[in-house]
Amino acid sequence: MKALITAGGHGTRLRPITYTQNKHLIPIANKLMLAYALEYASDAGINEAGVIINKGDKSIADAFGDGDSFGLKIEYIEQLEPLGLAHVVKIAEPFIGSDSFIFYLGDNILVGGIQKFIDDFTTNKSNCHLVLSKVPDPNRFGVADVQDGKIIGIEEKPDNPKSELAVTGIYVYDNHIFEAVNNIKPSARGELEISDAHQYLLNKGYSVTYSEITGWWKDTGKPSDLLEANRLVLDNIKDERKGEIDAHSTISGRVVIGKGSQVMNSNIRGPVIIGENVTIDGAYVGPYTAIGDGCTIISSEIEYSILMNDCSINNISRRIEASLLGSDVELLRSKSKPFTHRFIIGDQSRIEID
Ligand code: G1P
Repeated sequence: MKALITAGGHGTRLRPITYTQNKHLIPIANKLMLAYALEYASDAGINEAGVIINKGDKSIADAFGDGDSFGLKIEYIEQLEPLGLAHVVKIAEPFIGSDSFIFYLGDNILVGGIQKFIDDFTTNKSNCHLVLSKVPDPNRFGVADVQDGKIIGIEEKPDNPKSELAVTGIYVYDNHIFEAVNNIKPSARGELEISDAHQYLLNKGYSVTYSEITGWWKDTGKPSDLLEANRLVLDNIKDERKGEIDAHSTISGRVVIGKGSQVMNSNIRGPVIIGENVTIDGAYVGPYTAIGDGCTIISSEIEYSILMNDCSINNISRRIEASLLGSDVELLRSKSKPFTHRFIIGDQSRIEID
């Protein structure tokens, strides 16, 4: 069994963050998003992973190298044009060879790993095993029509979904998927749709089975999805305090504080993760906040937010919440008159003030 993991695309709904970095390198609970997929593959006993990247992208390989630290041998495969997920499978055929493989969209975050899905694929002797999840908005996804425990049809982003069962971005295939991706035609939006490949397998009478995720799953397309994924992962962290906490601070709940970090005169209410070399002074850090390495939070309040590395928040009077800050962002109170709002903000940034 091999793994094929996507790390390309343009993350347009996550701009401006994705102007300067690949979406799959955004941290969720201080761990790069793609690291979750790589760890799940490794935990399932897989040792070879193909990672699909955009043309010319070096950032993913810079972050994960040859995969050694995950116990994986990673091969990077460039998708020269965004021609769809079935096209991704098509260009991976030389890497996959005759093996079975798990196809994992790198922006999907779930609880509990992927071993169960591989086991279900093997036990059912399936040609294709899909992982479904009930969602309130199925028209945003591939949707499975399930009758008497069997998938009888798959539609991509249908206007009138036949069920509330979304096809998540986790698929297990044997070699017949290559017959499918080599025989389907591009959709109206010019892409080879993975749902069309699944429908092809159904039409040809191949065995397409499924498992349903009962726990948490999210594809992280929007800022609010990232904050929710961050919440989910933080809900499962264990207390670990390596930094220094002074006697004037109160820490409650599960909190991770990295090496070289200092918490002074502050109230931290977990679950919270604080990276290395962070300074927190006279601040409140509330539940579901992830603070990257090298950040400084002084005389300010923050909760339910993600701060990437080296951010600085100083003396902001309103509590900050549901916020996503890229690396090296500064939020500070004016030091001299006139006391106005003063912004230096890149394209497509979003600011909400009262
Ligand atoms: C893709 C697939 C869709 C699937 C979804 C899961 O959609 O085309 O069938 O339900 O991933 O994340 P996209 O996120 O590319 O719009």
